[in-house]
Amino acid sequence: MNLQGKTIVITGGAQGLGLEMAKMCAAQGAQLALIDMNESQLQQAKTELGNQITVRTYIANVAVEAEVEATFAAIDTDFDGIDGLINNAGILRDGLLLKFKDGELQSKMSLQQFQSVIDVNLTGVFLCGREAAASMVKRGRKGVIINMSSVARSGNMGQTNYAAAKAGVVAMTVTWARELGRYGIRVGAIAPGVIRTAMTDAMKPEARDRLEKMKPVGRLGEASEIAHTAKYIFENDFFTGRVVEIDGGISM
Ligand SMILES: NC(=O)c1ccc[n+]([C@@H]2O[C@H](COP(=O)([O-])OP(=O)(O)OC[C@H]3O[C@@H](n4cnc5c(N)ncnc54)[C@H](O)[C@@H]3O)[C@@H](O)[C@H]2O)c1
Repeated sequence: MNLQGKTIVITGGAQGLGLEMAKMCAAQGAQLALIDMNESQLQQAKTELGNQITVRTYIANVAVEAEVEATFAAIDTDFDGIDGLINNAGILRDGLLLKFKDGELQSKMSLQQFQSVIDVNLTGVFLCGREAAASMVKRGRKGVIINMSSVARSGNMGQTNYAAAKAGVVAMTVTWARELGRYGIRVGAIAPGVIRTAMTDAMKPEARDRLEKMKPVGRLGEASEIAHTAKYIFENDFFTGRVVEIDGGISM
């Protein structure tokens, strides 16, 4: 798919990797629908993207079915259809499954802590993917859906909730590629390793050093390297049902 003139929806598009992927799409001449819960950050993202291309912003919680349905219906009308979706909104609520001290149980990961991550990172991807695909099929548009997974999908200390959601995202990617291929819709996933963001910049230098040394490339990833991967998936018409691991060769 050539992104020129295409309508691309990005969830969690107000900052971080979502905004970087929005900049990549804008540079290719796409028009953008950015969905996020953070209104002020969304406004700032729109300003940063400039007025060379059409950018519309939508405030919605991707985990709430009625909000997702209404938002995608509005985008479908505002842009006369949807060509691409990047399912990027995500949260972290890290914690150990169980914490014991001197044989005594100190704490457990609560159901709320588990469920909140599943709601945004897995159910949110399901709802947005479903609505975007429905719009594409209804209008006979051949589209592309990209789901953000993570290197943590294979399991990671302190991330029962996140790892489960990110593994589920890959399973949905393969399933949708098989189900939607007949409509000309391709579906891919990106599994980033640790990417340099405001969060990693705020880490203690020793902790960041340790992380960097774990990687054969000896540094953290850059958001632009994830955006480059999204561009590859959009543009390569033979790519579907697979996950691109872009993690500097880290093993967790
Ligand atoms: N940054 C990394 O190192 C890294 C590594 C692997 C995977 N990822 C994945 O990439 C994606 C983006 O990560 P990031 O680092 O840019 O995160 P971020 O926290 O900087 O941005 C996430 C955005 O999603 C929005 N959001 C959160 N919950 C939402 C909801 N319920 N509805 C709508 N919007 C919501 C936030 O407001 C925010 O703008 C996530 O799915 C994350 O799991 C990131």
